[in-house]
Amino acid sequence: MANDSMTITDHRTDKSYEVPVECGTIRAMDLRKIKTSPDDFGLMTYDPAFMNTACCKSSITFIDGDKGILRYRGYDIDDLAENCTYLEVAYLLLCGELPTPEQQNKWVAEITHHTMLHESTKQFMDGFRYDAHPMGMLVSTLAALSTVYPEAKQVLDPEVRQRQIVRIIAKMATLAAYSYRHRLGQPYIYPDNDLSYSENFMNMLWRMTEPKYVASPVLARALDILFILHADHEQNCSSTTMRVVGSAQADPYLACAAAAAALSGPLHGGANEEVLCMLDEIGSAKNIPAYIKRVKQGEIKLMGFGHRVYKNYDPRATIIKQVADQVFEVTGRNQKIDIALELERIALEDDYFVQRKLYPNVDFYSGIIYQAMGFQPEMFTVLFAIPRAAGWLAQWKELMQDPDQKISRPRQIFTGRELRTVQRAGEHENAKNVGRILVHQ
Ligand code: MLT
Repeated sequence: MANDSMTITDHRTDKSYEVPVECGTIRAMDLRKIKTSPDDFGLMTYDPAFMNTACCKSSITFIDGDKGILRYRGYDIDDLAENCTYLEVAYLLLCGELPTPEQQNKWVAEITHHTMLHESTKQFMDGFRYDAHPMGMLVSTLAALSTVYPEAKQVLDPEVRQRQIVRIIAKMATLAAYSYRHRLGQPYIYPDNDLSYSENFMNMLWRMTEPKYVASPVLARALDILFILHADHEQNCSSTTMRVVGSAQADPYLACAAAAAALSGPLHGGANEEVLCMLDEIGSAKNIPAYIKRVKQGEIKLMGFGHRVYKNYDPRATIIKQVADQVFEVTGRNQKIDIALELERIALEDDYFVQRKLYPNVDFYSGIIYQAMGFQPEMFTVLFAIPRAAGWLAQWKELMQDPDQKISRPRQIFTGRELRTVQRAGEHENAKNVGRILVHQ
């Protein structure tokens, strides 16, 4: 009996089966041989929401939720946030190594020269209502890009894949800025290739009539760090969506649009918008005890707290708190930070949260900084989606190169009605006959 295996005894049949154990997992298909009779389908796993199922092998991002560790390609997130730019980290996620200076120059030039949108895409965006939610605009326009680049459907061609990866990362910031300006009724600003990724994003967001936009270096750096923190997070809901849609060999624009749609949900990337609504509802630190009481009574959720994977402090939240202070030096202090800090202090001293290992996650503080920078809450998830595109595309690239992967198609436990036939009161005989005749014809 091999060491890295286990024996399953089926007490329904008293038969035992040896199942290999690999990387702390067993293959679900190895359970299929466990049957009660020859025509039994065989054993399956049942795991709603994938609470304990690994759907792929990945070398991109490592998380130790108990220790609060997050690493991209082996680099700790705080090391990357301190020492790298967002585009360097996007390269790392996609290529597995940090770029050399030559590779970085080439990569930055490639991205910079693909930030422009086709004029028809701008006309498409003009079609949205004046108050369209920017996430809806982003998801729809990402999908629409699929019609601008039909070659993207050749997903098995690595060179074609690489061209779309560059286009999507480059255009995410432009799509986001145009969604923002559309709501303000302001004209779209063309990209400025002299600027860095985050500076150019600020240019397309906030340039007015001045001939050249000059970005605050503090805010540009803060945006870059926020982009690094949100770039990837292994098999979260939106990346899983990217993999599922990608597994059907759909083109990456449509797959990214689906991933962005998943991210827009309040239980996923939309949580940062919800946190700000919650802080507005609390209104002042003196109202926190009453709010916490309602949370503990199960009446309301404490948004931005708790995580499927982290049973410790989300390392991204720690870094975001540090960035907040730097941003406030430029923008002025967002008073909501004091409510948030007090809420965190009280929650982390309260057994209810400690026992449930509920700690602030990446969404708890990010909205407060975005608001200080001048963004409306509707834009918060868009700011999450811009850098997350690098993570989605890295997951997609890995999927397309993974021999284990096939189209995603889970099974189900059927709990519905057994076979039955259509019955009609009083017309039983006739209907049946008529029906039978029709069918056969
Ligand atoms: C994320 O970064 O995607 C969120 O923290 C959610 C997750 O990882 O499940």
